[in-house]
Amino acid sequence: MSTYHEPVMPQTCMKYLNLQKGKIYVDATLGGGGHALTMLQQEPGIRLYGIDQDEEAIKAASERLQGYSPVLIKANFKDLRTQLAYNKVKGIDGILFDLGVSSHQLDETERGFSFDREADLDMRMDRDAGNSAKDIVNDSSFEELKKIFKEYGEEQAAGRIGRAIERYRTERRIQSTTELARIIESVVGAGSKESLKAKVRIFQALRIRVNDELNALSTALDDAINLLNPGGRIVVMSYHSLEDRIVKNIFRLAEQDCICPPAIIKCVCSHYSKIKILTRRPVLAEPEEIASNVRSRSAKLRAAEKKWGKQ
Ligand SMILES: C[S@@+](CC[C@H](N)C(=O)[O-])C[C@H]1O[C@@H](n2cnc3c(N)ncnc32)[C@H](O)[C@@H]1O
Repeated sequence: MSTYHEPVMPQTCMKYLNLQKGKIYVDATLGGGGHALTMLQQEPGIRLYGIDQDEEAIKAASERLQGYSPVLIKANFKDLRTQLAYNKVKGIDGILFDLGVSSHQLDETERGFSFDREADLDMRMDRDAGNSAKDIVNDSSFEELKKIFKEYGEEQAAGRIGRAIERYRTERRIQSTTELARIIESVVGAGSKESLKAKVRIFQALRIRVNDELNALSTALDDAINLLNPGGRIVVMSYHSLEDRIVKNIFRLAEQDCICPPAIIKCVCSHYSKIKILTRRPVLAEPEEIASNVRSRSAKLRAAEKKWGKQ
């Protein structure tokens, strides 16, 4: 079970969450329950709600957290507000987001996240949810594919790869991970470092699109900030520059008072500062952790505290 997913920067997360007995916390990306277990071991007196959209993660975490009594919820964190309302939770004292996919999801060949393992091209974290990667690559227009690869993958060859997909599917539908990998190689070549990077970028872009990851993140961060009680903490670890930019921008906006254009003399926006950012720059993992947990290499942690005052 401990190999499900090695939690990243667990002690830094605990430092910023500042757990307190009797208070309410949410692990919005439960995964294998590694961070949740650290939280419960560190402060068994907390009330913990764990959320994940992947049924397998909920099962793995419920086994790992036996002996404690967290409330585990299979849901997308974009529905945080509704899910907590169902559970009669009005305010929370801390929330952790450890974004992206778990090592377990990547390792499970049949989930279709890896380009080097033959599997159905799926990539849904929630297997009950809408379109798979196969639907997206086969049914999106060239323009849509190019946009996905460019925006979410920052891939230089986005257009050429989009065209290659378009040509391929005039013959047959793309079914598998390795089939898509070969189409990418037909454009960028095989065996080189660049080719490997292109496959990583295209698969990551598709995963972000399939799971609508960036929209879910923006919605959940706004709601989480509003749900925090005064003094409550939000901690977010991201592994992709687009995610980190969203976290940085949402935190900065939430920290600002008036956001009226400078030409306006008297404020009309009623915007007020809700949080204090605790990490001016993202916190990175220490070299020792990076050496033992490769996933921590790209992690960027940002944290903020809810202010007292207007709610
Ligand atoms: C990096 S793993 C978390 C690992 C966890 N911290 C641990 O220690 O085991 C991310 C998890 O978040 C889940 N996830 C990602 N986006 C989600 C979303 N929008 N709603 C709910 N769960 C999500 C994934 O299914 C995955 O299990």
